[in-house]
Amino acid sequence: MSDEAGKPIILGIAGLGTVGAGVVKIIEKHKALLAARAGRPIEIRAVSARDRNRDRGVDLSPYDWVDNPVELADPAHGVTVVVELIGGSDGPALALARAALSNGIGFVTANKALIATHGKELAALAEDKGAALRFEAAVAGGIPIIKALREGLAGNAISSVRGILNGTCNYILTRMEREGLAFDHVLKDAQQLGYAEADPTFDIDGIDTAHKTAILASLAFGTEPDIENLPTEGIRHIAPVDIEYAKELGYRIKLLGVTQHTSEGIETRVHPAMVPTSAAIANVMDATNAVVVDGDAVGQTVYEGAGAGEGPTASAVVGDITDIARGSNGPRLGIPAGDLRASDPVPVAKHRGTYYIRLRVDDRPGVMADITAVLAEEQVSIESMLQRGRADDGGVYIVLTTHETVEASVAAALDRFTGLQCVLETPTMLRIEA
Ligand SMILES: NC(=O)c1ccc[n+]([C@@H]2O[C@H](COP(=O)([O-])OP(=O)(O)OC[C@H]3O[C@@H](n4cnc5c(N)ncnc54)[C@H](OP(=O)(O)O)[C@@H]3O)[C@@H](O)[C@H]2O)c1
Repeated sequence: MSDEAGKPIILGIAGLGTVGAGVVKIIEKHKALLAARAGRPIEIRAVSARDRNRDRGVDLSPYDWVDNPVELADPAHGVTVVVELIGGSDGPALALARAALSNGIGFVTANKALIATHGKELAALAEDKGAALRFEAAVAGGIPIIKALREGLAGNAISSVRGILNGTCNYILTRMEREGLAFDHVLKDAQQLGYAEADPTFDIDGIDTAHKTAILASLAFGTEPDIENLPTEGIRHIAPVDIEYAKELGYRIKLLGVTQHTSEGIETRVHPAMVPTSAAIANVMDATNAVVVDGDAVGQTVYEGAGAGEGPTASAVVGDITDIARGSNGPRLGIPAGDLRASDPVPVAKHRGTYYIRLRVDDRPGVMADITAVLAEEQVSIESMLQRGRADDGGVYIVLTTHETVEASVAAALDRFTGLQCVLETPTMLRIEA
């Protein structure tokens, strides 16, 4: 038994917003349960946020208040684990991570931007100093997907991980489908109901999903988290008409983070996709998250649950703290930081898959022939094609799905469509993810 066994774990918590206050509540409510599970007491010693006087719905009077969160890493406070719940890839979160780990203090965070951007540096520092680094809450909130990939599935070569990783986008897409509403309308509603931030850019433009996908790719494939080279597309351009056609064709539109092993290498991307309604992930609705992992020994496993919110996110943070209290300190990103390979992503132009394309065209003879000629010349083979009555603002819609093809060919065809006189607006393309 180590010298540490039985000694309390002393926490310093930076950030007392939605997640931070939730963590304080769980630690206080489940004191005895956590002590029993960890084999030692877990105690909060010091906390930090911007506004000392704000009511956070929890009694903070038993703890030391620290104005500058980086001070929590000062050995004078005697903190053994710093819990960072401020957010942001740089600024105080990064300064605190570096300070804590440099001092050999364990570090737990829910901050996907921080890990996606600086994960390798922080993992290396943690290893060097023998400090724990945990970030379960950074991906899919309450779903223990980091643990699943790092520990439970360690016996598998992973072939793919795909997930619905942003509750706001899933909520918007669900309501667009159920109620036939336009994106802007549902976004406004989501903001009023607290499902979307006042500045929703990170969510709806796919950046939040990209941070999480970069972390999943690193864990699945032993590569450095690489947010810089991750092709990212959000859901602003999804039109109700595409949601209707998706339904007619047996699909549902979901914003996915995908990382997969292909013959060309590792492909990692974030984009809205057509998912067959028979797939488990297509039936994950509202703000729920889900992750599907394919491993060579286990086959397919599916994880579903709340991806955000006070309780679910704090649950993941407290799980990490308990892990550290039990003495778990293994490789932070699944393998030693020095062994992480450069991500070297396969360009999306090399992606092989099937596609949905919607065109608004002039309603006159010969148009269909022009379209099919372009596709044939670019070697894109059509699987199905429908022509529908007049679009609201003139013209008709041609909707087609392709057989498997390489994305560069689809991109070339789309470019040529845009140049055709009969094509009335920029074509819409969605990847189909089986
Ligand atoms: N909310 C979720 O559902 C969720 C889910 C998964 C992951 N996360 C991640 O969890 C982290 C926290 O999210 P949250 O939703 O709890 O955010 P939040 O409600 O905005 O809380 C942020 C907290 O950080 C404090 N803070 C901000 N700047 C600071 C500074 N310079 N110095 C000290 N404290 C500072 C704020 O202080 P004041 O309160 O005094 O302003 C606030 O208490 C983020 O990394 C986020 O991505 C959140």
